[in-house]
Formats: sequence, C-alpha cells, structure tokens
Amino acid sequence: MFQVTSIIYNSTVKKMNIPIIDISSLISKTEERYQVAQKIRAACCEYGFFYIIGHGVDEKLQLELETVSRDFFALDNQEKIKISMSNGGKAWRGYFPVGDELTSGLADLKEGIYFGSELDSNHPLVKSQIPLHGANLFPDSLPKLRELVLKYIEAMTNLGHSLMSGIALSLDLEESYFANRYTSDPLVLFRIFNYPPHCDRDPAKYHWGVGEHTDYGLLTILRQDMNGGLQVKTKSSWREAPPIANSFICNIGDMLDRMTKGYYLSTPHRVFNSSPNNRLSFPFFFDPNFNAEIEQIDLQVEIRDNREERWDRSSVHEFRGTYGDYLLAKVSKVFPDLSARVI
Ligand code: OGA
Ligand code: NI
Repeated sequence: MFQVTSIIYNSTVKKMNIPIIDISSLISKTEERYQVAQKIRAACCEYGFFYIIGHGVDEKLQLELETVSRDFFALDNQEKIKISMSNGGKAWRGYFPVGDELTSGLADLKEGIYFGSELDSNHPLVKSQIPLHGANLFPDSLPKLRELVLKYIEAMTNLGHSLMSGIALSLDLEESYFANRYTSDPLVLFRIFNYPPHCDRDPAKYHWGVGEHTDYGLLTILRQDMNGGLQVKTKSSWREAPPIANSFICNIGDMLDRMTKGYYLSTPHRVFNSSPNNRLSFPFFFDPNFNAEIEQIDLQVEIRDNREERWDRSSVHEFRGTYGDYLLAKVSKVFPDLSARVI
C-alpha cells in the first residue's frame, strides 16, 4: 500500500565506492600493516567509512548469531518483552519494540536488543551505579543467544583493539596510542536490530529505519545482513553502502572526530529498508573508557568543524569532559522515557 514512497527513496540514492580494506596484516602484525594504515587514513579522511575483509572473525559464529537473532524477533511480543529494557534499569540492556527508539525526536522503524560487557554486581562501576554498566538480559527461551552474543562480543572486542592499532598507525602515532589512553578497558556496546520492511508501514509515522545520525564513540564495526539499506552522507549526496558477504563496515565516531580535529570524519548515516524482508544488523561500538577525558591529538592540521552540516548542529570540538558525559547526554535523547526513570 505504501510502496511508492519506498521506491522514491530508493531510486534517489546511488551506490558508493567506500574502500574495501583487507586487514589481515593488522591482525597478524606483519610488515604490510603499514600499507594498510595508509589505506585506513585515506578512507577516514574522505569518507569516515570503510569495509574490512580478512578480519578473522569466524563466519560460522556470525551466521549462527544471525539465525538465532531472527528466531528471537519472530517470538511473540509477550515473550520478547520478558527481557524489556525497562527491566534492565541503569545498565541499559534488553529489548525495545518498534517505535520506542527515537532519532532527532522521530520514532525509528526498528526493534532491537541492547547488550554490553557482561559485568556482575561486584564490578566497581556497577556498584557505584554508573549508567550503561551491568548484566545483560538474555531470553530463557533461546539459551543459544546468550552463548553466541558473549562469544561475538569477545571476538569483536579483539577486532576493535586491532583496528585501533591500525588507526593509530594511520595517524603516525605509536601503535598503542589509543590502548594506552582510552581503550585498555574499552566501553563496549553491542546491539542487534531488526528493521521490518518499510513498504507496509505508514510513511507519515515512520520516515526511516534509523534517522540521520553520527555515532558517539571511537569506532563502530557493523555487520549487516544481505538485504541492504544503510546509507552514508557524502559531501554532495546520500549514497548506499551495500552489503558485502563476510565483511564488516567500519565508521568513525564523534570522539575520534574530536581527537583528530575533524581530520577523521564522524560521517552521518541512516537506514531505509526498502527490501520486502526483515533486515538484521549488528552494530558493535568500540568506545573509550567511560571515565576517560577526551583530548585532542597533537596533529598538524587545522580544525575542520562541520557543525553546520551535522544532524545535531553541535560541534564535537567544543565538547569538554569524559566520554561518559558525552554518551549519557546523547543516549537520554534516544530513549527519553526510560532515561527519565533510570538516570
Ligand atoms: C547505529 C547504526 C546502522 C544499521 O546503530 O548507530 O547506524 O545498519 N546502525 O543498523
Ligand atoms: Ni550509527
């Protein structure tokens, strides 16, 4: 019934030539990693996005996680809300239904589950009730999901460390630059999203799967299924970032933009699922420690401030404080009701 809108959205967005980088030498720490770092630098300056292949993350694990995630979203609503985010309290973990998450004040056409590092009640940050830290909520009816999510978070955390060492090299910094200052104990957040097909929804209610935004932290490593729908904003227009099997798509977040004075861009992106299928995506956020103060790197570049073009019209360069300060201010806008209750 609403197909016309999706066809219009889809036909105006062209494909984009985001670089595809084989990072196997970064994982195995061989000499070629210096060349890989050059490719990362070019991609981060020009697009703020790049695909990675040769990442070493078990494909079977990825596919199993996708299958079990589809099983979860196919459950009755009653079953899904047993792990509702409102039961996760300050830890911000659990399930939210379609329409609950907002971007720039508008409801997104997606449902999902929030996960993070699995921390028990004795962890110092959990004891002091720091938001976003705590235990995950997993569905009893799908025990496999717990096992796969925890394995996936571990694999992706390792990948995050390798990529940050490559990003450090790409800026002519020592390989451990970010690990020493920000990510020896990274803030790790992981989400599984289900974007229902847009064609059978009211376009007046749902404009986007997720509306235009930038990511908040250092680096996002996204796995998307083969349905497509991710779009990236370039200087001139919106472009599609189509799925490539067994690749991840990486993008720079606001904190790396701030640290590099805008040399590496935190690029706006959004999702529109014009396929007739449920689109699953698995964004993994590899971010600075919650209490880390975010400082500029001593780079010989002028500040490149794109506040005018940014979705939130705010400057990442003016921000002062810890990553936790930045993140909480953003997250509370995404789930205003929940944040009023738990933060
Ligand atoms: C995000 C995001 C894209 C996707 O979670 O920040 O941009 O494909 N996700 O789900
Ligand atoms: Ni994003």
